[in-house]
Amino acid sequence: MISVIGDLSANEIEVKAKGLIGKNIILLETVDSTNTFAADLAEKVEDGTVVVADSQKKGRGRLGRTWISPPGSNIYLSVITKPSIHVEDGTLITVMAGVSCVHALRRSTGLDVAIKWPNDIVYGDKKLGGILTELRTQDERIIFAIIGIGINVNVSLDILPEDVREIATSLRNETGGCYSRTEIIAEILNELDRWYRIMKEKGGSNLILEWQRLNSTLGKKVMVIAGNETYGGFAESIDEKGMLILRLPSGETRKISAGDLKILRHQT
Ligand code: BTN
Repeated sequence: MISVIGDLSANEIEVKAKGLIGKNIILLETVDSTNTFAADLAEKVEDGTVVVADSQKKGRGRLGRTWISPPGSNIYLSVITKPSIHVEDGTLITVMAGVSCVHALRRSTGLDVAIKWPNDIVYGDKKLGGILTELRTQDERIIFAIIGIGINVNVSLDILPEDVREIATSLRNETGGCYSRTEIIAEILNELDRWYRIMKEKGGSNLILEWQRLNSTLGKKVMVIAGNETYGGFAESIDEKGMLILRLPSGETRKISAGDLKILRHQT
């Protein structure tokens, strides 16, 4: 099995891992999608096993989109978790991943990174990364959850397609620094381990409070596309499961579980 690819070192990540998440790292040079690979493996490995790839050939984003995954520069990883919680609480896993990434990236870079609902990692109005959580369920319980995390670390924006370049950024593009992916992955996994324990021991309320503290969405006028519907309104809060509570111009509120959200430029 490969243990080092450029600045990615499986052993170093394992040594830095303080808890369950990250004690077993599977490092791949390239793969279709770390999420697909992890889902195929999930029932045979321990809770907290992590698949990391230097590049992906068919990286997947939310809503069937492609996640551009060039080699040598970014983070593509999938964490296999077995939280034994009810399917209804599955959205908390994405909340947990967002909170963990923001803590880790703030500590590693000093940038004021935030979460944009539902699961974008942003700096200002530019996307730095995203989370794709996929669940396997049986009888209303989660058998396993794959937490897929993609972060633009050292990629030069010039090599990204133009439509992506307009909305995306990378850590290097924002600070001029070149970052060790090993260090950042270790930070993310240690944060995930901490919040995973909090979620299992105390439920989701601490996570939701932390998400509310770290987000860039609440208190703003937004436009949300959810399925075939488009809603304009005021992003009031998220509920105990991470659903967006949107106040419509009529004064009614609507809860939205998933969608594409745009923060409107004119807030008055
Ligand atoms: C999004 O914002 O649309 C979510 C992007 C998630 C990308 C990551 S990269 C690692 C993992 N493997 C995938 O195929 N997707 C996720």
